[in-house]
Amino acid sequence: MRTHYCGQLDSRLIGRQVVLCGWAHRRRDHGGVIFVDLRDREGLAQIVCDPDRPEMFRTAESVRNEFCLRVSGKVRARPEGTVNPHLASGEVEVLCQEIEVLNPSLTPPFQLDDDNLSENIRLTHRVIDLRRPQMQKNLLLRYRATRAFRRFLDEAGFIDIETPMLTKSTPEGARDYLVPSRIHPGQFFALPQSPQLFKQLLMVSGFDRYYQITRCFRDEDSRADRQPEFTQVDIETSFMDEGEIIGQMEELIRAVFREAIAVELPNPFPRLSYREAMERYGSDKPDLRVTLELAEVTDVLRDVSFKVFSTVANSEGGRVAALRIPGGARLTRSEIDAYTQFVGIYGARGLAYIKVNDVSQLNESGLQSPIVKNLHGAALRAIVERTGATSGDLIFFGADRRKVVDDSLGALRVRIGHEKGFVNGNDWEPVWVVDFPMFEYDEQEKRWTACHHPFTSPRDEHLELLESDPASCLAKAYDLALNGSELGGGSVRIHRAAVQERVFRALGISEHEAQAKFGFLLEALKYGAPPHGGLAFGLDRIVAMMASAESIRDVIAFPKTQRAQCLLTDAPSEVSERQLRELHIRLRHRVDTQIELGRT
Ligand code: AMO
Ligand code: AMP
Repeated sequence: MRTHYCGQLDSRLIGRQVVLCGWAHRRRDHGGVIFVDLRDREGLAQIVCDPDRPEMFRTAESVRNEFCLRVSGKVRARPEGTVNPHLASGEVEVLCQEIEVLNPSLTPPFQLDDDNLSENIRLTHRVIDLRRPQMQKNLLLRYRATRAFRRFLDEAGFIDIETPMLTKSTPEGARDYLVPSRIHPGQFFALPQSPQLFKQLLMVSGFDRYYQITRCFRDEDSRADRQPEFTQVDIETSFMDEGEIIGQMEELIRAVFREAIAVELPNPFPRLSYREAMERYGSDKPDLRVTLELAEVTDVLRDVSFKVFSTVANSEGGRVAALRIPGGARLTRSEIDAYTQFVGIYGARGLAYIKVNDVSQLNESGLQSPIVKNLHGAALRAIVERTGATSGDLIFFGADRRKVVDDSLGALRVRIGHEKGFVNGNDWEPVWVVDFPMFEYDEQEKRWTACHHPFTSPRDEHLELLESDPASCLAKAYDLALNGSELGGGSVRIHRAAVQERVFRALGISEHEAQAKFGFLLEALKYGAPPHGGLAFGLDRIVAMMASAESIRDVIAFPKTQRAQCLLTDAPSEVSERQLRELHIRLRHRVDTQIELGRT
């Protein structure tokens, strides 16, 4: 039926008879000659319909955008001056002999080349949206990346094993999607937040190297880089330590970038400890393209008379950090106001700054700022030294709880870095962040929670800290960040039941609860569980970065909206009384679209 894809035509085919199938991208009537740009997944081809075949010409006249067509004709060179350098097939065209309308189309809801479409319109008409060349490219790229992951992992001896979708809760820090059981009234399956526990069990069973490219479900608030269902490249190995796992995963990512987009990533990737990442970049997924860095000044501000700084510097968990902007003395009042507003998003209560007019005078004549008179000479000297400031620079300050300072100055660093060109010129900056803490303190819940997940192993030499000083206990956990996004993360796992029980205890999980939720894991660990570890990459995020897409929704065929809905199929939606009855569910009440489920 078809001999070639439209996008495959080129000058080597001149003189050849071809049959093409696709959609009418555009039809132009040039007084007597009709041009149809025919489109398929590989690209566009220009079809020329001359009136010397009246029947064919009449059909061509009836063609409208998005009609599905079959065209046969002869490839010829485009006349001088009409070559289109933007098209793969731009040197040739097809002189049409026959054109057949395989199926007409309604007028599409939007022009496919309209770049200003709202996302709601695009997602409602996703079928048409996916016809857009950019979306076709994105999904082909996703396929190429997935294939590259598989190829590397297959060759490295990993085997693909499926794990259940209807399962028990796997805690990764989000809410579960629940599925009611018809056969067991009042009982629910959870969709997996990740295959974490099953992959560990597979290690205990002796499969040694596992991978799976699989869907994970997390009921959390959607963002540009988050979806309620998303895809992980999930990996686990036995008998490898942290360094070996990191080394092999790094090779995997280099191979995938090489194969999917012909990019050569650095070898090796740099590594940063979590502590250093937070101190210098205010982030555990630092964007290393940006050359600006934070400087620690908490310890030199304890005895200054500027209360905003000294109060924070003397309080437990407080941090004062400085961010030097080279040449920043030129920043305008309104730019500084905009940055002050920006850090407010992250909870900062202000953005103090000093303009360094003359670095040789560390007083009110060389330094311009209302706060200088409340900072003594030693403090000013230390600030200038640690930030490396020189005349013409500006120094921003954040003073608050550590998290607020890290989040706000970390984000400001990235924003100013990209806005003002403080970047190193590299397109890709991967970095491993290692030595994560085991726990973080949840202020609201007043308890310790797992930084990664509860199955992550503490460092051997920190075992005793589990009970004595959980805040200082470091984990064998690692994250891979690229250009300021977290691509993946993992850890060496606990493989001894006794240690797992101690970690549950440190997390305030009672023995009873541990048994009810994770009894099967604790049991399995007692049967000669091997040392094991692994990680998971976020496939959607990786492909979105490769495609330079603004949102992971642009690399997922049928994504959910920010409000976790599918506009195409109108899911979630109400179900019949009868279905609910079978599932032993009665709806209690409705608040807007939020439905609470109650047991009968
Ligand atoms: P983690 O929770 O860090 O680890 O997830 C791994 C990677 O998955 C991606 N990701 C997401 N992508 C899109 N939408 C989401 N809602 C979303 N949530 C996470 C991120 C992240 O780095 N079981 C562990 C891995 C392990 O320890 O082996 C886990 O799931 O890119
Ligand atoms: P004030 O003493 O409130 O007039 O603030 C003086 C300067 O300190 C202003 O530039 C504020 O933006 C800034 N500022 C106030 N609180 C903080 C804070 N927590 N961190 C950093 N700067 C702050």
